[in-house]
Amino acid sequence: MMVPDAMQAWVIRPDRLGEPEDAMRLETVAVPVAGPGEVLVRVMAAGVNYNGVWAAMGKPVSTFKAIGDDFHILGSDASGVVAAVGPGVRRWKVGDEVVVHCNQSCGECPECNGLDPMACSEQRIWGYETNWGSFAEYSKVQAQQLVPKPTHLSWEEAASYALVYFTAYRMLVDQARVQAGDYVLVWGAGGGLGSMALQICRLYGANAVAVVSSEDKIDLCRRLGAHAVIDRREFDLVDRSTGEPDVAEMKRFGKAVRQATGGRDADIVFEHVGAATFATSVFVCKTFGTVVICGATSGFSLHFDVRYLWMRQKSIIGSHFANAYQATRANQLIIEKKVRPVLMGTFPFAECPVPHQMMRENAHLGKMVVLVGATEPGQGISEA
Ligand SMILES: NC(=O)c1ccc[n+]([C@@H]2O[C@H](COP(=O)([O-])OP(=O)(O)OC[C@H]3O[C@@H](n4cnc5c(N)ncnc54)[C@H](OP(=O)(O)O)[C@@H]3O)[C@@H](O)[C@H]2O)c1
Repeated sequence: MMVPDAMQAWVIRPDRLGEPEDAMRLETVAVPVAGPGEVLVRVMAAGVNYNGVWAAMGKPVSTFKAIGDDFHILGSDASGVVAAVGPGVRRWKVGDEVVVHCNQSCGECPECNGLDPMACSEQRIWGYETNWGSFAEYSKVQAQQLVPKPTHLSWEEAASYALVYFTAYRMLVDQARVQAGDYVLVWGAGGGLGSMALQICRLYGANAVAVVSSEDKIDLCRRLGAHAVIDRREFDLVDRSTGEPDVAEMKRFGKAVRQATGGRDADIVFEHVGAATFATSVFVCKTFGTVVICGATSGFSLHFDVRYLWMRQKSIIGSHFANAYQATRANQLIIEKKVRPVLMGTFPFAECPVPHQMMRENAHLGKMVVLVGATEPGQGISEA
């Protein structure tokens, strides 16, 4: 495959961090070269994630310290074709159709080789804490980041699921150890993580209680197999004047959960909203239950009544993306059509900042993808 010297890429720079629609600009940059253990991927489609919003805004930290360049190509989800392989790569060859998972690690340390690559001291999220992300014609990744592209999916469908789905898989399957019959409270169930969490719950025989804030998300959650749906617009979980959790409202929300479950509390709470919901998550979690958390969209400083935690012996588990083994196992469920992407919006390359701005404003549903090498939606399906 002929690889050009230069390419088009959506880039943020340290002197223009802010709203995604202002921070992201299309620039011409050199195509990177795949080093030892690395692969150059011709990107066909790239998935939009909340980390692109954080990076564009420079919040809670600027990504430029971590990446060490003065430009940053964002993007932590891609489908594409292997364009070149670096020295030592044996599992992939030029022409292979792939999906990229976003965990990078050193591959040499004891943690990578015996504990979990997520424990590696050099662990980074590709396209967020590293450069050469997916909103570019070519992307440089580690060979261990590749999984096979499901042949029944288009390029845009294949680019839409890895980051959120593999994260949700590790949270529920490996960390919280979801079991058949469990009740799982899923915040943001119509968003990226939540829409995949609902499907994992259904597949494992658990009952998902979805929490959302719009009619279209209520419909989506029902279609994805939620046991019940709660509209969070009916509750003010945080007192607007003090910013403190509103205990009466938390209790009223807890009653709504019990109504939805026939009197059960949540065995697992699937958390990524943070400040606006965490106190409620700890409160509604069952005695001996688990709150598993991977993010904090509404704020990182969490305030909750710890008595509900210790007196009722609940656990809080932090979780972050997934390792290559988990990504591969989860991808197999997509290949087997047991889990499906929840792609709700496809955008041309020229409009890359638009879906990022929509995500920033919570004006989206499910996942959004930008076409890069694919010239129109629907390409890339090789087997029905
Ligand atoms: N650590 C990791 O590996 C990892 C991986 C993926 C994502 N994340 C993080 O997880 C978060 C969610 O990611 P995502 O891709 O699912 O984003 P998303 O598609 O924007 O979905 C987030 C959902 O959160 C809900 N939400 C927003 N503000 C809320 C509030 N104040 N109270 C209750 N719910 C609220 C919204 O649902 P409703 O308005 O319908 O309730 C929204 O659909 C982001 O912060 C992201 O950075 C972390």
